[in-house]
Formats: sequence, structure tokens, C-alpha cells
Amino acid sequence: MTTYEQALEQWRGSNPPRHYLSIADLNLETARVALSLAHAMKRATHSGQELFRFASPTALALIFEKPSLRTRVTLEVGLYQMGAHGVYLTQNDIQMGKREAVMDIARNLSRWVRGVIARVFLHSTLEELTRFSEVPVINALSEREHPCQALADLMTIQERKGDAPLKLAWVGDGNNVCHSFTMLAALLGHEVHIATPDGYAPNASVIEQARQLGSQSGGQVQLTHNPREAVADADAVYTDVWVSMGYETEREARMRQFQAFQVNEDLLRLAKPDAIVLHCLPARRGEEITDAVLDGAQSAVWDQAENRLHTQKALLALLLGD
Ligand code: CP
Ligand code: NVA
Repeated sequence: MTTYEQALEQWRGSNPPRHYLSIADLNLETARVALSLAHAMKRATHSGQELFRFASPTALALIFEKPSLRTRVTLEVGLYQMGAHGVYLTQNDIQMGKREAVMDIARNLSRWVRGVIARVFLHSTLEELTRFSEVPVINALSEREHPCQALADLMTIQERKGDAPLKLAWVGDGNNVCHSFTMLAALLGHEVHIATPDGYAPNASVIEQARQLGSQSGGQVQLTHNPREAVADADAVYTDVWVSMGYETEREARMRQFQAFQVNEDLLRLAKPDAIVLHCLPARRGEEITDAVLDGAQSAVWDQAENRLHTQKALLALLLGD
């Protein structure tokens, strides 16, 4: 069983990042340590214990330019369990870049908090926060990546399937969640098959990065416009909304173009019989996924949502640990 001290020692010996904006901030060792600590923390929390608590009073800023259920609650609950406090700040409160320059917000927050966790419209806002922050900055979702989500995704896959290389299918939009999932899955040695409509493929530079990360462990990435090809014999099938936050004006066009990319029972039958279904949530039931699949026996989405808590606690304990 991993202890926090062992994990921290391995983390510190593996060229750890100071900030966590992207899966590309991880390497094979740091990714493995973070996940293994998350598993241990989950077991401890389930038995009423905590593997890590901050030694001195600690606060973090939680900046949310967009709505959230899972990310906000798991961060606030996780910090509470570890004896720290999260200060929740919406765009209404601080109006980043409008009421005050991003760099000035970063400089102020650095004097009060041990870390800044931010959900933003533009990834460049995170990069600017990072440039001027004296404390670690963590990406709680941008239009480019959702790296906290990916840790929970891969933890869930490990729980259900172990560590052997798998065929993982992504069906739908080549969006932020797809980007981080693909990079982390490739880093850990999996084969990721991504099926998107024409014009909605993941960002080419992200795929290039994912392939580079995969070269550390044999991980691979394949792109297609055919969902049946991606899902055939897959061990896991992952989808997300067709219209991400910030893309609402494209809703009508996207609804037309994504119709053939619904994860339903017909499509799922092509995967391995014991394949699991993943969704980062929130789901638009009846759009990208049917009730029968989301609520079906193969769905792992509630474990996946729970694992947001344990993976973020592990990440924070490693990034900020004493
Ligand atoms: N999956 C996820 O990040 O959910 P929220 O948008 O509710 O935080
Ligand atoms: N791709 C979705 C994920 C929400 C957690 C979005 O960005 O809205």
C-alpha cells in the first residue's frame, strides 16, 4: 500500500511539475505516482482515515469563469478533508481581465493562498496566471484541456481493468476532455481510437503531443470519422457533450453533424462484452448518450465522478505537500 511519504518521495524524484495546466506537465513516473496515491487515498477515505492533512492553515483560490458541479464540489470537499480551505470566486466576483488584469490577480492571490485552481474560457488565461503567480496554478478546465478529469478517467479504468494496455474509444467531439484523456491514456501505454465528425477532430498539436507522450510506454492514437471502427472490440467507450461550454452558438449545426456519434446500445454492442462506458458528466441524456447506456450495467460514470475527489486530493497533496 502506497503511503503519502513514499509517494511524495517518488514524485519529487521524477522531475515533477510546479503547475498543472496540461497532461504534458506529467511524465510516466509522475502520472503513475499520482494515480497510485489516489487509489490509496480512496481506500483510506472509505475507511474513515486521511493519508494527508496540511500541517498549517492552508487556503487555495478556486476561480470559476464557467459553471461546475463535480469540479467545484470535489475540490471543496477534498480540501476540507485535508484540512484546507477553498475560496470560491466566480467571474462575477473578480471579473478577470475586466475589473482587474489577470497578472494583478495572480500577484494578489499569491500573497494569500498556497495555490490557484482556475476554470477558464481561454487556456491563455491560465498561462498568464502561471507567469505571474508565485504559487502553483492548476487547470480546472479550459477550452484546450481538462487534466484533472483525465486523472479520474484513468483511475477508473485502472479500477475496472487493471494496468495492461487497452483499446480505448472516444466517440464525439474532439474537445478539451478528449485532449486530456487521449494524452494521459497514451502516456500510460493505451491505444486510443478517436471518432469525430469531419471538422471536429482533436487539435493536431495535441495529438502530436499525445503521440510523443505515448512513445514513453507504447501508447498510440488513431483518428477516424467512423464511430463503429473506433468502438470495435474496445475495452472502454468514452463520450462527452456535443456542445461544450462556450460553444453554445454552434448548437444547431453541431446537433446535425453529431447525430451518427451517439453512444447507444447498438454502438456499444460492437465493443468487448465487458467494455465499460465513461462520461465526464454532465450528460445530455438522449443526445450524445442514451439513458439505457448511461444507466446500464456497463456504465462506470458514477465511480468516475467519485474519483474526481480522490485524484484531485492526490494531486494537491503532491503539488503542495509539506
Ligand atoms: N466533469 C466535470 O468537470 O463536471 P463539472 O463541469 O460539473 O465540474
Ligand atoms: N467538454 C465539456 C466538459 C464539461 C465538464 C465542456 O467543456 O463543457
